[in-house]
Amino acid sequence: MNMMSFAVLSAMEAKGNLLLMEAAVFVLLLIRCVLAQQVPLDSAVQRSALLDLRSSLGLRSRDWPLRKEPCRSWRGVQCQNGQVIAINISGFKRTRIGRLNPRFAVDSLGNLTLLSSFNASGLSLPGSIPEWFGYRLPALQVLDLRSCSLSGSIPGSFGNLSRLNVLYLSGNSLAGNVPATLGELKKLSNLDLSRNLLTGQIPNAISLLGNLTRLNLASNFFTGQIPSGLYSLSSTQFLNLSDNALTGFIPSVVGNLDKLIELDLSKNSISGSLPLELRGLRNLEKLVISENGLEGQLSEGLFPTLDQLQVVDLSGNKLDGALPATLFLRPNLRFLDLSRNNFTGSWPILSTNGNASGAVFNISNNMLYGELNSSFGKFSLIDLSSNYFQGTVADDRGRNVSLGRNCLQSVASQRSSEDCRLFYAERGLSFDNFGVLEPMQPPVPQHEEKSSKRWIFILVGVFGGLGFIAILVIVLVLILRRCDKGIANQRGSADVGPVPEGDSTPPPKDPAIVSGVGDSFTYEQLLRATGNFSETNLIKKGHSGDLFKGTLAGGTTVVVKKVSLHSFKKESYMMELDLFSRVSHARLVPLLGQCLEHETEKLLVYKYMVCGDLASSLHRVTDLEDDSLQSLDWITRLKIAIGAAEGLSYLHHECNPPLVHRYRETCI
Ligand SMILES: *[C@@H]1O[C@H](CO)[C@@H](O)[C@H](O)[C@H]1NC(C)=O
Ligand SMILES: *[C@@H]1O[C@H](CO)[C@@H](O)[C@H](O)[C@H]1NC(C)=O
Ligand SMILES: *[C@@H]1O[C@H](CO)[C@@H](O)[C@H](O)[C@H]1NC(C)=O
Ligand SMILES: *[C@@H]1O[C@H](CO)[C@@H](O)[C@H](O)[C@H]1NC(C)=O
Ligand SMILES: *[C@@H]1O[C@H](CO)[C@@H](O)[C@H](O)[C@H]1NC(C)=O
Ligand SMILES: *[C@@H]1O[C@H](CO)[C@@H](O)[C@H](O)[C@H]1NC(C)=O
Ligand SMILES: *[C@@H]1O[C@H](CO)[C@@H](O)[C@H](O)[C@H]1NC(C)=O
Ligand SMILES: *[C@@H]1O[C@H](CO)[C@@H](O)[C@H](O)[C@H]1NC(C)=O
Ligand SMILES: *[C@@H]1O[C@H](CO)[C@@H](O)[C@H](O)[C@H]1NC(C)=O
Ligand SMILES: *[C@@H]1O[C@H](CO)[C@@H](O)[C@H](O)[C@H]1NC(C)=O
Ligand SMILES: *[C@@H]1O[C@H](CO)[C@@H](O)[C@H](O)[C@H]1NC(C)=O
Repeated sequence: MNMMSFAVLSAMEAKGNLLLMEAAVFVLLLIRCVLAQQVPLDSAVQRSALLDLRSSLGLRSRDWPLRKEPCRSWRGVQCQNGQVIAINISGFKRTRIGRLNPRFAVDSLGNLTLLSSFNASGLSLPGSIPEWFGYRLPALQVLDLRSCSLSGSIPGSFGNLSRLNVLYLSGNSLAGNVPATLGELKKLSNLDLSRNLLTGQIPNAISLLGNLTRLNLASNFFTGQIPSGLYSLSSTQFLNLSDNALTGFIPSVVGNLDKLIELDLSKNSISGSLPLELRGLRNLEKLVISENGLEGQLSEGLFPTLDQLQVVDLSGNKLDGALPATLFLRPNLRFLDLSRNNFTGSWPILSTNGNASGAVFNISNNMLYGELNSSFGKFSLIDLSSNYFQGTVADDRGRNVSLGRNCLQSVASQRSSEDCRLFYAERGLSFDNFGVLEPMQPPVPQHEEKSSKRWIFILVGVFGGLGFIAILVIVLVLILRRCDKGIANQRGSADVGPVPEGDSTPPPKDPAIVSGVGDSFTYEQLLRATGNFSETNLIKKGHSGDLFKGTLAGGTTVVVKKVSLHSFKKESYMMELDLFSRVSHARLVPLLGQCLEHETEKLLVYKYMVCGDLASSLHRVTDLEDDSLQSLDWITRLKIAIGAAEGLSYLHHECNPPLVHRYRETCI
């Protein structure tokens, strides 16, 4: 071809017909070009290598038809001068046999000595990359084995692929260390080893890859510090080391990466602060260092030079100090996530000429406070929830604002006033208390609600109180009728009634009553006292345990409550013990002690009340309705009523916290 075209050219030149000559050159070049592509595979070795590959990978006749010329008709095969230079079998389907037996069986590639590109991404080729790969493919420039189910390690021989420009091995199960020989790939511009099982340190040899523009080592198990050499890769535009276990801090030499466009160091354990030198990254568009241990403040000086910034994600760190207003004013900013940090101070005063329109700002879960009275800038969505902002928010701020869990007035789902007051008090700041004046009495320890709903609560409180008093009166009347009976029956026996006549002082303190939860009895003691919990001693089956009458060795009559953990929840007796450890009043049945040593049966020991418990006494009243209703004089009734009121008053007002009870064992 060359000889022929030269001859024609010379002839034409002689004629001096330039125009004709140009046309002829064009036609000839065209023909040459077409022919070059269609030159059949002229090497028998390469032909058999391709056939081998076809059968070892189980490729289909539809893609690589046997009877046709590989260079012309096989899909994804590219030749030059009769030699295979590129194979792209990415996304191919396989024959049934090939599907059943997928392997990384590419040995025959070794005979395609001019192969410059091999792309098998997405094709399942379980197995490891053979060591010869680096030695026998000296022309390889592009190797794409993404998501090929590869295992084993990256062969050190890769360092001999001296022409390699693109190396994609992501999404496999490659393990072990990254061989330092990769540092010899002087022409490498794209290295993606992400989403593998690689371990060890990132080899410092990577810093020898002077032409590297993209480095992705994300989602592996790399440990140790980021090698300082990495920051000398001045051509690098994309650096993704996220989701590893990298430690150490970001050194000031990071400023050398002045071509960097995307930096992702998220999900590591990087500590320290963001160095001011970061402002040297004038081309930076994406800065993602979320989920690390960064601390310290964000300097205002960090951002004014970073005009290309579009995405900044520093969420999930320990950054503190004030929000840098300069960050909000980056002209191209469209996503800013500073959530889950420790930023404090008030909302920055943003000049209204801020250009970040349509941006998404997430500043939630910080410790910001004060009023939201300055401009937000132009945003499409802003999340300020879980901070401590107070005051009111003007309506014209748009609807895409999340303000939950703050201390704001007239906004739903805010923090409790306790939380807010505490936060502001700790910092010596004044808190507007949701715009409500301080109530005269200390507030009930309950969650403060929106001020607009306060009236509802006050009304509910008043009517609820009235209702409660009504119920109380009814209960007292019933008690009076019952105790008529009880005391009438005991007349003349002894003055051991629960409310001794003419005496409103507490009964003499039993020595067994101690503060806290009383004495510890042994299980045997209580077995003896109650006659092995015999049926005859059973007073009643209570709703939280069975009650037995018993006599202690000293002669004291007691009531033993047996809480069987088979039938009752553990909390029931714990609650009761807790209650008695906190309250003690003459009008409450005294708890004398407890026995908790038995695994499944917990015993509580009470003072014995002669007139029994309220519930069963009430039943007795109905049994004997016709007689002795009149036997109790009005003075006694009044005393009982006062006693009951004292007990209730104590529970509701004096003990802390106040108790609303459903106590039925109390004999008033
Ligand atoms: C590789 O082959 C796939 C499928 O045939 C095709 O979509 C893709 O464009 C090819 N890629 C290259 C670089 O030739
Ligand atoms: C490999 O082929 C896929 C198409 O399936 C393509 O997206 C990818 O860019 C190719 N790899 C290279 C390095 O060209
Ligand atoms: C490569 O070609 C040689 C012949 O030149 C042959 O002996 C050898 O088996 C081939 N290797 C593979 C893996 O196809
Ligand atoms: C691979 O490269 C190393 C050093 O770069 C060299 O010593 C070795 O001879 C090479 N091996 C082959 C098979 O080319
Ligand atoms: C980058 O690649 C070119 C060849 O493409 C090479 O000459 C140069 O030395 C490489 N740069 C470095 C720093 O290795
Ligand atoms: C970095 O890699 C991770 C994991 O592959 C990916 O989720 C993340 O989007 C990448 N970061 C950037 C900035 O592209
Ligand atoms: C946030 O700051 C407070 C002090 O203001 C400190 O007690 C707390 O531990 C910090 N939290 C984190 C996650 O650093
Ligand atoms: C806002 O952005 C526009 C282009 O997007 C630019 O022309 C203008 O100068 C910017 N204004 C400010 C205040 O940055
Ligand atoms: C802001 O971040 C928090 C936690 O980081 C997340 O729960 C919330 O959904 C984010 N808000 C928006 C609007 O994306
Ligand atoms: C916002 O209110 C605070 C007082 O709460 C005041 O000090 C500050 O100057 C106000 N800011 C603006 C922009 O009005
Ligand atoms: C609210 O957000 C949505 C999408 O996030 C956006 O389409 C819409 O314009 C925003 N509304 C306003 C008032 O900014």
